[in-house]
Amino acid sequence: MTPTSESSACNEDHATATGLPGPSAAFPIAPDDASRRQLMAWQSEYGDLFAVPSSNGGLAHWIVNDPALAQQVLVRQAGSYAKGMGLDRVRLLLGNGIMVSESDFWARQRRMLQPAFRPRALSDVNAMILEENMALAERWKDAADGGGSIEAESHASELTLVIVLKSIFGTDYPRLVEGGANPFALLTEEPERNLRFAARFHRLKQTVDAIIGRRLAERPHESFDFLGHLLAARSRDGDPMSRSAIVDEVMTLIVAGHETTASALAFAWYLIASHPEVCARMQSEVDTVDESLLRETGGAERETLAYTDRVVAEVLRLYPPGWLLSRRALVDQPLGDHLIPAGTQVFISPYLLQRHPGYWRAPARFDPDRFAREDEPRHRLAYLPFAAGPRHCIGEHLAATEMRVHLATLLRRFTPTWLGDDEPAIESAINLRPASGIYLQLTAR
Ligand code: HEM
Repeated sequence: MTPTSESSACNEDHATATGLPGPSAAFPIAPDDASRRQLMAWQSEYGDLFAVPSSNGGLAHWIVNDPALAQQVLVRQAGSYAKGMGLDRVRLLLGNGIMVSESDFWARQRRMLQPAFRPRALSDVNAMILEENMALAERWKDAADGGGSIEAESHASELTLVIVLKSIFGTDYPRLVEGGANPFALLTEEPERNLRFAARFHRLKQTVDAIIGRRLAERPHESFDFLGHLLAARSRDGDPMSRSAIVDEVMTLIVAGHETTASALAFAWYLIASHPEVCARMQSEVDTVDESLLRETGGAERETLAYTDRVVAEVLRLYPPGWLLSRRALVDQPLGDHLIPAGTQVFISPYLLQRHPGYWRAPARFDPDRFAREDEPRHRLAYLPFAAGPRHCIGEHLAATEMRVHLATLLRRFTPTWLGDDEPAIESAINLRPASGIYLQLTAR
C-alpha cells in the first residue's frame, strides 16, 4: 500500500514517537494475507518489538514477537488490555458473546460457561464424536473402494460443524435440521466473512431463539448439552443468563468451535499425508487403542495416544488457526522497557512466534517429536495456539478430543497420500486455512 506524502509524514511522527523500530509508511494491519506476509518480512527486519504507523492516522500499532512481552500482555497485565481491532469483523457476527465481550460482563459469562467445558462435563460428547467419525469413515470407504480422491477440508468442516451443533443442542439437533437442511451449513458453504454473510448469519439467531423457547417450555432442566448448561447457569448473585445473552453465546460457540477445528484438521491431513513416516508411526499407535476407550474418554489419558497428541500439537504450531491475536491497551503502562500509551493496538501472532528461530529448532520442519524434548520451546509463550491467560480458548479440551478421535478413527482404517506437490497455499483471514482444499488419495488398510 502506498501512503500519500502527507499521511506518510504524519505517520512517521507517530512511529518515531513510540521510540520503537519499524517502517515509516502506514499499513492497515488486519487478519488478511497481505498483513501476514508483511509481518513476517518486518519481523526479520525489525525484530521482536516494533511499531507500524496506523493507516487512519491514530496511534502506531505495536507488534509483539517476544514471548515474555506476549506473556505480559496476555497473562500478567491481561486486565489492562481489551480485545483489539483485529476482532472488529468478529464483533459484527457475535454480538456481545464471550469472544468479544469485556470486563465484568465477560468475567460473569466466562464463569457461567466454564463448567460446561470441564473434561468431566465433556465426557458426554465423546461417544457422539466417535459416532460422527465412524460415519465419515464409511464415506471415506466408498471413496477408497472407488479408487477416487477426497477433499479433506470440506469433510473436516462438515464434521466439526455437526459436532459443535450436537454438543450445543443435544437431542434438539434433529429440530435444527428439520426438513433435511442444516441452516448452519452456510458456515461451510460460504467462505467469506463479509457483511452479506453477517446478515445471513444474524437471521439464524431467530432459529436458535426458537429452539431455546421450545426447550424452556418442554424440559428446561436437561443439562447434558451446552444449551442445558447455559440455561441452568447462575451468576454469583443467583441470576440466570438473559435469553439474548444465551443466543449470543450459542452463536459464539458455533463460530469459534467450528472453523478453527476444521482448519487444524485440514492442515493435519496435509502434514500427515505428506510425511509417510509420521503416518506409519501414528497408525502403529492408534492400532493399539481400543475403540471403547475413544468412546468413553476420547483417548485423553496421558500416554494412550501420546504420539498422536504430539502430531496435533505440531500441526497447531505450524498452522495455528487463530494466527493473529489483537489487544488494545486500556491505560498508559510499561511494556518491556517502553511505555505503551492507552489506546494503542497490540498485535501478537502465534504464527510468527511459533516459527521464531530464537525459540524453536529448525522451525519450518514438521517434527512432532520436538514436543517430547524438554528444551523446546525455549519459552512457554512461544507456543500459544489457544492463546494464554484469562482469555485463552475455552474449547481447548473439546478441540483436542475432536482432533485426536478424528485422526485415530480414520488412520485405523485408511492410509492417506497427499496429491499436491508443494505446501498448500494458505488463506489468512480471521482463521488460517488452506486456500484451495486438501486433496488426498485414500488406501483402505
Ligand atoms: C483447534 C481448535 C481451536 C483453536 C486453535 C482455538 C483458538 C482460540 C484462540 C487463539 C482464542 C483466543 C482468541 C483471542 O484471544 O483473541 C480462542 C478463544 C475462544 N475459543 Fe477457541 N479455538 C479452537 C476451538 C474452539 C472450540 C471447539 C470452541 C468451543 C466450542 C472454542 C471456543 C472459544 C471461545 C468461546 C473463545 C473466547 C474465550 C474468551 O474470550 O473468554 N474454541 N480460541
